[in-house]
Amino acid sequence: MRNVTEENITDTFLGYFGKDTNPRVRELIDSLSRHLHAFARETRLTHEEWQQGLELLRETGRITTPQRDEFVLMSDVLGLSSLVDMMHSSEVGTSSSVLGPFHVSNPPSYPMGADLRGDFDGDIVLVKGRVLDADGNPIPAATLDIWQTAPNGLYSSQDHAQDEFSFHAKFTTDSDGSYRFTTVKPVPYTVPTDGPVGQILDATGRHPWRPSHLHYIVEAEGFRPLVTEVFPDDDPYLDQDTVFGVRDDLVMHYQPQAAGSFPSEGLALSGKVKSDWQLVEFDIVLVSA
Ligand code: BEZ
Ligand code: FE
Repeated sequence: MRNVTEENITDTFLGYFGKDTNPRVRELIDSLSRHLHAFARETRLTHEEWQQGLELLRETGRITTPQRDEFVLMSDVLGLSSLVDMMHSSEVGTSSSVLGPFHVSNPPSYPMGADLRGDFDGDIVLVKGRVLDADGNPIPAATLDIWQTAPNGLYSSQDHAQDEFSFHAKFTTDSDGSYRFTTVKPVPYTVPTDGPVGQILDATGRHPWRPSHLHYIVEAEGFRPLVTEVFPDDDPYLDQDTVFGVRDDLVMHYQPQAAGSFPSEGLALSGKVKSDWQLVEFDIVLVSA
């Protein structure tokens, strides 16, 4: 097409595909270009706004490092990560939720019943549950990769005062599919706001808070890996998670327990907890691969 116009530029673009283009690539770029053009037409996008958008992307690239991926964060706060996640989540098993940028590879493996709290302050929580298949049968030898922030709301990679693997751990379920460990009750925290994502949140009058949560990656042979989170039901941000990660089946009650009632065996802290404590039970259902 020689005489390209505002009206025909989209069709012209779609006509430029080479005949050997991979069909899925074609489908994705076709749809992307149609939506992008429609967005510019609908909003009557100006030169200045287009430049500002490009600058936002440039800055997103500049600030991104192997430790901090601002593109993923942008996808998270725009709801794209959660949308893609939900579209491919199984209806049978436990819901999946966002991975986030703070998972570390190869966390230390701990024996069942270990304590992640160490010397940190914060309410002691016993987390326990079972990993099950869709028929309710236990899955032994499933691995659980668990991580959370310290009580100051920071992940270890954000806080030089913490060890690299503080509040990061791996467990393997017992023969009855069960798992248990102690930690501190998670706290709400803000996603990083010192980059372009912070500017987007600011410009759109949004807060940067996530409800408190424990992250899980659960894997077992023959089952689809599950990336998920569990949220306490009393968190003030449950209905306004800035990355849209909350699902009903992931919200759990942290049950208060009286001082003196902590289990006397089976846990690293058995015999050591004199205060009151909390119990959260979270069973996880995996779907066959
Ligand atoms: C997180 O839960 O660790 C997280 C998820 C998305 C963006 C930022 C943090
Ligand atoms: Fe998190």
